[in-house]
Amino acid sequence: MPLVGEVEISGAKNAAVAIIPAALLVEGVCRIENIPQISDTEMLLTILAELGAKVRFINKSTIEIDCTNARNQDAPYDLMRKIRASYYLIGSMLGRFGSAKTTMPGGCNFGVRPIDQHIKGMTALGATVNVKGGFVYADVAGGRLHGSRIYLDKVSVGATMNIMIAAVLASGRTIIENAAREPHIVDLANFLNSMGADVRGAGTDTIKINGVEKLHGGSYTIIPDQIEAGTYMVAAAATGGEVLVKNIIPKHLECITAKLRETGTIVQEYEDSVLVKGASEIRRVNIKTLPYPGFPTDMQPQMGMLLCLAQGTSIITEGIYDNRFKYVNELRKMGAEIQVDGRIAIIEGGRRLSGALVQACDLRAGAAMVIAGLCATGETVVEDIHYIERGYEDFVGKLNKLGADIRIVDFPEEPAPEKIISVV
Ligand code: EPU
Repeated sequence: MPLVGEVEISGAKNAAVAIIPAALLVEGVCRIENIPQISDTEMLLTILAELGAKVRFINKSTIEIDCTNARNQDAPYDLMRKIRASYYLIGSMLGRFGSAKTTMPGGCNFGVRPIDQHIKGMTALGATVNVKGGFVYADVAGGRLHGSRIYLDKVSVGATMNIMIAAVLASGRTIIENAAREPHIVDLANFLNSMGADVRGAGTDTIKINGVEKLHGGSYTIIPDQIEAGTYMVAAAATGGEVLVKNIIPKHLECITAKLRETGTIVQEYEDSVLVKGASEIRRVNIKTLPYPGFPTDMQPQMGMLLCLAQGTSIITEGIYDNRFKYVNELRKMGAEIQVDGRIAIIEGGRRLSGALVQACDLRAGAAMVIAGLCATGETVVEDIHYIERGYEDFVGKLNKLGADIRIVDFPEEPAPEKIISVV
């Protein structure tokens, strides 16, 4: 059924999950607006509270965090293990306390996701970092990091932001070269600067950070989520609908807009919204995912799904991760015809999708499955939706407001406790 109507985009997940840990650097009250209500931010706020932060919700998307009395103590490791962004606690705990103990980060499984560039950065700033038994131990002699010049061997969003967070309270100047340039990197820099930091050049590949003694409280509003916006744009295109995607920064969506237009989708840009009208016939396109401003890997599964409906053969090349095509097996269950060879997927379009029982293999794949379900004949059941809840605020509610017919079905907890094997 075509989606029709308006959808309001929430704050950017990948900005919020860095800004919340970065609040640990601030002695004073940080008021943060436009926090997305998703499980990743909830978990990070719980971790901060366990470290002694006062966290107060002013309304559903505005919080005040006061880390003045935060202490360096054991954090809930079971939560840290579940999320990727817990790696930002390495930077913020090192910067604030001079030492950190965290778990190795969790998050979606796209193959090996090392943190060697994070460790390289922390080490250059004077920390000793050891990874042992699934934990990361880091500390700096004398308690304060010192500025350094760091060239990232790989363009990494996480490493760029983590080093920025760690360097803000370091002595002297840090220069990050070959830095990532995503909008959320600029957002983190703006947040830190509004709390008294001196970060320059975010959004380019060279970021300079002049260390300061302290950060003070302040107010900050997180940017809109470009991937959430892109997901609704694809949903409108795939269902042949007409959706006004509101509260966005169209500039951040340029590569998504350009690709959708190539498919024949009409995208009209306004100051802080875009109107997306699906084409009667979707055209094939080729896509290669790249670091910003290239086409985002986090939009790859949604576009892959759309291209199943296009006329002709499309090729997607995944330029960031080794293994981000697991969702293809799920789409095949719905009638899609896709061949995968390593980082390349060849999609034979023009297929009619039919409802099936499918899994959300990860966050964006889960969103793609729901959109596929909207386009398919019959009922689609998507399992493992906790992945979707990690990154999309009220996904089901927002889609239903656009005319979809989706519901979340609660299954009672398994009665038997989960079993483990313990080997001594
Ligand atoms: N990499 C390394 N070493 C490192 C860090 C990264 O080899 O130390 C590699 C990765 O394995 C990957 C590439 O560099 O091949 C890029 O990884 P990056 O560090 O940029 O990714 P990330 O920080 O782990 C964030 C987002 C992801 C998003 C990527 C790329 C968060 C919490 N996660 O991950 O978001 O895909 O940047 O834009 O910010 C999502 O939202 O669905 C999501 C997966």
